[in-house]
Amino acid sequence: MTKKIDPWGKADIRDYGAIMKDFGIEPFSSVLKHTPKPMMQMKRGIIFGHREFGRILDARKKRKPFVMMTGLMPSGKFHIGHAMLAREMIYFQEIGAELYVCVADIEAFNVRRKSLQELRKIAIDEYLLNYIALGMKPGKVNFYFQSNHQTAYYRLLQMLPQRVTFAEMKAIYGDITPGKIISVITQAADILHPQLPENGGPKPVVVPVGIDQDPHMRLTRDLAARFQREFRFIPPSSTYHEFMKGLKGGKMSSSDPLSYIAMSDDSKTVRTKIMKYAFSGGGNSIKEHRKHGGDTKVDVAFSMLKFLFEEDDRKLKKIKDDYESGKMLTGELKEYTVEKVNSFLSAHQKRMDKAKSQVDKFLK
Ligand code: TRP
Repeated sequence: MTKKIDPWGKADIRDYGAIMKDFGIEPFSSVLKHTPKPMMQMKRGIIFGHREFGRILDARKKRKPFVMMTGLMPSGKFHIGHAMLAREMIYFQEIGAELYVCVADIEAFNVRRKSLQELRKIAIDEYLLNYIALGMKPGKVNFYFQSNHQTAYYRLLQMLPQRVTFAEMKAIYGDITPGKIISVITQAADILHPQLPENGGPKPVVVPVGIDQDPHMRLTRDLAARFQREFRFIPPSSTYHEFMKGLKGGKMSSSDPLSYIAMSDDSKTVRTKIMKYAFSGGGNSIKEHRKHGGDTKVDVAFSMLKFLFEEDDRKLKKIKDDYESGKMLTGELKEYTVEKVNSFLSAHQKRMDKAKSQVDKFLK
């Protein structure tokens, strides 16, 4: 049995397989062939797991409404790790989902102790602008703040605790505080409220998240079952993606600028971060590298290409083969990565400027 997953912890998760087994998450490969226009991250196993994703596929096939619902903790700079989840949100919009995007300002207020004003600013200037620049379209998007939403949402939030015990909370989360309890119940309301009568009634909802959020999914699915009488909730589906590794190999974290590449980094910063700090899976000397090759499993530059920046499967495969055989050197791999990232970011930063005029369309 793996340890509990702590959604507020710093643990960097390595053994995804064990977690899937312990908590009953299905491999994404089981639904891949039925998934329309699958994302490259789905094909590459970066989006590796799901719960009841079949409901979403089914709704789409039958042209019934379905929802993509997820949330963000506004914390500092929007980086390439955030961009990957944003891509997934936009993918669901493109295949027909209505979007609910929650700014978890109450969670951040209670658990991270930041002011609501500061959190609101980060959510808009960093997250929302980047979503728009990455291709999110206004219209079927509910971008909302936990601190300021619909009456029906607050009513649900206040009803949910009737059917959960303190012992269950402790079993799922271990160390629990009043602030965490509020955050957990609020998140369950986030996930379930698209199905309230005020929002069109029961419908399939998919929640794309990192595996650290799975405790919330388990609790919310139980709560959905316990409120059948009142709301006839369909248990929410989810997808799980691997986390992008930080530059130095550990966790990518907004509180450590040398662990990430921000979407706003200039080309010189990107070059320095990758050349100087990105953990290399290459050999200790050129001679050794030529002989034994490099390890793409731990190489951060390679993983950046795989997760986000090299869309061409054939090119990625060639880089992998060449690097592992020793034909391609670390310096060459890094140089290629710097160029890929910089050409993406320079186009993205231009789109960010244009995105500013769109912001109002997403805020009510
Ligand atoms: N807890 C999430 C995080 O730490 C944020 C969040 C709030 C969320 N409500 C949600 C995620 C609903 C998914 C669905 O990032």
